[in-house]
This record gives sequence, structure tokens and C-alpha cells, in this order.
Amino acid sequence: MCGIVGYVGSQSALDVVMAGLKRLEYRGYDSAGVAVLADGGLAPAKRAGKLVNLEKELSERPLPTGTTGIGHTRWATHGGPTDANAHPHLDNAGRVAVVHNGIIENFAALRAELTGRGHGLASETDTEVVAHLLAEEFSSCADLAEAMRLVCRRLEGAFTLVAVHADEPDVVVGARRNSPLVVGIGEGEAFLASDVAAFIAHTREAVELGQDQVVELRRDGVTVTGFDGRPADVRAYHVDWDASAAQKDGYASFMLKEIAEQPKAVADTLLGRIDEAGSLTLDEVRIPAAELREIDKVVIVACGTAFHAGLIAKYAIEHWTRIPCEVELASEFRYRDPILDPRSLVIAISQSGETMDTLMALRHAREQGSRVLAICNTNGSTIPRESDAVLYTHAGPEVAVASTKAFLTQLVACYLVALYLGQVRGTKWGDEIRAVVRDLARISGAVDQVLGTMEPVRELARSLAGKDTVLFLGRHVGYPVALEGALKLKELAYMHAEGFAAGELKHGPIALIEQDVPVVVVVPSPRGRSLLHDKIVSNIQEIRARGARTIVIAEEGDATVEPYADHLIRIPATPTLLQPLVATVPLQVFACELATARGNEVDQPRNLAKSVTVE
Ligand code: G6P
Repeated sequence: MCGIVGYVGSQSALDVVMAGLKRLEYRGYDSAGVAVLADGGLAPAKRAGKLVNLEKELSERPLPTGTTGIGHTRWATHGGPTDANAHPHLDNAGRVAVVHNGIIENFAALRAELTGRGHGLASETDTEVVAHLLAEEFSSCADLAEAMRLVCRRLEGAFTLVAVHADEPDVVVGARRNSPLVVGIGEGEAFLASDVAAFIAHTREAVELGQDQVVELRRDGVTVTGFDGRPADVRAYHVDWDASAAQKDGYASFMLKEIAEQPKAVADTLLGRIDEAGSLTLDEVRIPAAELREIDKVVIVACGTAFHAGLIAKYAIEHWTRIPCEVELASEFRYRDPILDPRSLVIAISQSGETMDTLMALRHAREQGSRVLAICNTNGSTIPRESDAVLYTHAGPEVAVASTKAFLTQLVACYLVALYLGQVRGTKWGDEIRAVVRDLARISGAVDQVLGTMEPVRELARSLAGKDTVLFLGRHVGYPVALEGALKLKELAYMHAEGFAAGELKHGPIALIEQDVPVVVVVPSPRGRSLLHDKIVSNIQEIRARGARTIVIAEEGDATVEPYADHLIRIPATPTLLQPLVATVPLQVFACELATARGNEVDQPRNLAKSVTVE
């Protein structure tokens, strides 16, 4: 939430920063702004709305050229999305500029204090106080990094800050508490950003900042200290993807590209985790087997789409391991005083690894002595750093705000963890595990097959663009799939969309059914759990009798549903527990196409941000 970029080097800072902001716009697009150090002063520009507004402003009123600069793309918290509230924020003399991601909780007290000392504050933001405090501290120490350390010690809340001062023209200073910040090291240049995507076109050498650290960037190197000024240990790493992974590659949107990448993402997430004998080798799960055998409860915490992955994981974990599993929205978790102890295994699922609600939930779990395993897509992000172990999903960078390939890989990772627990605890035989692993290995091809048959789904989606409501029904693992289908449609098409457990229908939601309301029904495999299948076929009949237009997602060869389906979407046969991996794909395509038909921008839905770093 909010994207930050900083640069010092020999290139035009404005060009580097603007290109970086373009890559970070998924983090928020309420306003954008830059500041460049040039001609002994500070040249800022900022505009409410998307980055294009700032680009227009810069083309009308160009900034002087400089080689040190910062930039910001905002998801509004304190203060509406106006020009005045856009970052960077400056002190009264216009010598220091600061950008910020997070929330400064004690800003009201600091603001009152500053006003009392004669400072005039121009915005409604919490960020502006930092610019003024930095200016005060700099006036006595003449060292921006030191001023930043002194200011940070006074701030409460979650914050990542990046600042420049006109009196230190070749320096950019960053500070990190909770919200993400990564350093990029180039030759004779250095970068700071919320996400490596912002500088991947320039360097793949990164340094991860830890909690409560301040970094000073100069052309010839970086210095990292704690807020207390002591030198800090940092972890350098090489980014294993390149700039092309973060480009649209000819697709109309990142979302379409990421949907198409799912077969590879699924296959990559399995790679190297199964040995030749077909057993699981999850070396990354560094929690000793003896401890995993003692676990008496699994608790999954996550938000949004990752929460839906967790809901599906529960079915697999309980079925394969017989350990009770709870799934909880991370934002609710710590406030209800959950019962946790060292025998609870908490699984935190997060694409970004930065979602504040999930981070706070895992911290709470660790305070209770529980073990935490992260399932995450972003190397070096905060959630894996603070977990006992991490299983990375190998989806590659996901740029579109609505999660697609990350979701499928989260599911794969959850299945692997569930099987691994079954393997370690002896609740699954080796041949049973190998059979599921073989089924998982076939999923990549099955997803590819689904993607090849999506034209009728796109056509259907376009035909429904004028509707107000679409409902989604499922049973068993199809229920979270229905929730995910509804979430996708809500966030992308801005339509009333709801997912229900098909069995709950008669307890209320059936009242929503009226003539021609589209209802998407996820039908479980007719093989194996046929009772489940029979029940949902009855549910389809119940809604059809009341006028619903039924859109049925069913396995190839399932003839029972044919008479009751106004539209039939076929998916390849899979074992019941793995069906979400294929059944979700048509729902992603459906939402993407319907949103496009309604004229919405699918990569950047209104009011949302991809990485939500505030609670
Ligand atoms: C935001 C995004 C969702 C995402 C959720 C959790 O709300 O818009 O797409 O599912 O955050 O994000 P995470 O990075 O923790 O998976």
C-alpha cells in the first residue's frame, strides 16, 4: 500500500523514479508525486489521481534535471486523495522532502507540537509532520541519516520513509518499520523501493532492510544502521527474475498475462519438492519433524484471496492429517484472543508477505509460543522473515491487484504442507502420498486445458455486463471457490456478487433468486463423493425452478447436470480435493472479461491496493 522510490546515481533521477512508480502503481493510485534535487534546491511535483496526471503535469511544467530524487504513489489513509495530500511533503523552507508508506499513529500530538513552535502544515496527512521534524533535526546535526534516526525514535505506528535534503544533494535516506523497503545496488548508483520491481530494470542485486533500520544511499554505497545508530547486519540477495517478468508481454493487462501463466506457476511451485521416489522433500519447512508430530491444531491466517486458499486448505489438512484446522481472517484473529500454545501450528498465507493484518496475526501467534509457517510469494518480505519457516510459492511477480496465479500456487503449497504433515505424522501411507503427488503433477496440464477452452466463458461474461448481481454457489471445497469467484467479480466488475454454500441457500439467500439472475454453480466430481454431487444437483434444480439462469461448472463427462445448465463450463476431471485448482480458472476469466466489458481497468480496480500494509 503506497509505493515508494528513491534514487541516487548519474542518470536522470526523474526518469528512474517515474519508471519505478509505474511498476509500483499497483500499490495505490490515489495520487503520485516526485521531488528531484537540482540547482542547489528541491524541485517537487505532485498530482491527485493516477500517474498519468503527474506525467501530464511534468510535460507542461518540466522539472530541472537532477540525479537524486524520490517518488511516491499513494493509497490514501489520512486525508483525501487531493493534490495537497499527495506526497512528497516538504518543510516550510522547502529544503526537505519526504514520502511515506504506513500510518504514523501519534501524528496528531506531533502536529500540535509543531504548530506550537510556529510550523505551518499544509496538508491533512500524518506524513507532513515528518518533513518538519526532519528539518528541525537537520538544522542542528546537518546529517540527514542522523536526523532520520532521531525522528524515527519519536514516531509510533508503521512507517517506511524516504527523504532527501537540498543541503545533502547526493544522499537519499530511508527508514523502515513494518512496511516494506528494499535497497537496489547498481554500479555508481543505488535505489530504494517498496518492491524490487521498481528497480529491476537497472539491477538485480538487492539488500533487504530489517525492522527499525535507517539506510543512507550514496552513489558509492549504502550504510545501514538501527534507529539507535548502531551498524546493522543486512542480507544481500540476487533477484531471480528479470524485468521482462514484470511486463505485460503483449497481453492487454497484467491480469490476463498472470492468468495465462498459471500452468507454469503451478508446475514451478512443485519443482524440487518431490524426490525420485515420490516422497515430499520440503527442506524449507525447518520445523523439526518431532515438533510437527506434536502439533494438535493448525490455524491458518490470511486475507482476501489468500484467505480463500486457506479455507480450501482446511479440507485437505483435516482429511489427510486428522489434525483440527481453523481458518481465520487475519484482521479478526488477535482481537478475539485465540487459544494458541506451542502445539499449535499457525500457517500465514500471503502473496506479498507484507499484509499488515497477517503480519500482526503471526506476531500474536509467536507471542503465544506457536510455530509459524509462512506460505509466501515474495522473497525476503516481512512475513517470511518473521516466521519459523517459509514455503515459497514460485508464481513469479504478480502485478495485477486481483490475485490469480498467486492463489493457485498458494493452493499447491497448502496441499504440499498438508501432505507433508501426513507424511511426517504417518497419517498417510507413502503410496497414498505418491498418488496425490501424481495428481498434483497433472494439474498444470489441466489448467492449460481449461485456458484453451475459455472463449465461450468470455462470450458469456460479455453478455452479462449489464446485470446487477451474480451469485456463486459451491459445496465442500467448491464453497471457497464460489467465494473467490464472487470476490473476483466484486473487485473487478464492481458488481453485487456473493458466494454461498449451496446447502445454506434455503436458509436465506434463495430469496435473492429472481427471474434471470445469473448463478454460477461449482459442481463437485460425480465420482467418489457422489452424495455431494447429488445434493448440489438438487440445489441447481431449486434455483432454476425460481427463475435463475444457471451457469454450471462441471467435470467433463458429468451428464447429470446437463438438463439443468443454461450454460455449461467443462473442466477436466480431478480428485475432489484438488478441483479448486481447475474450477477457479474460469471464474478468473469470467470476472476479467466482464469487468473489461464494463469499461473497468482490471489491473487497478478502484479503491484497492495490492499490498495492504495498514491494519
Ligand atoms: C489485497 C489484495 C488481494 C489479496 C489480499 C491479501 O486485498 O487486493 O488480492 O488477496 O490483499 O494479500 P496478500 O499479499 O497477503 O496475499
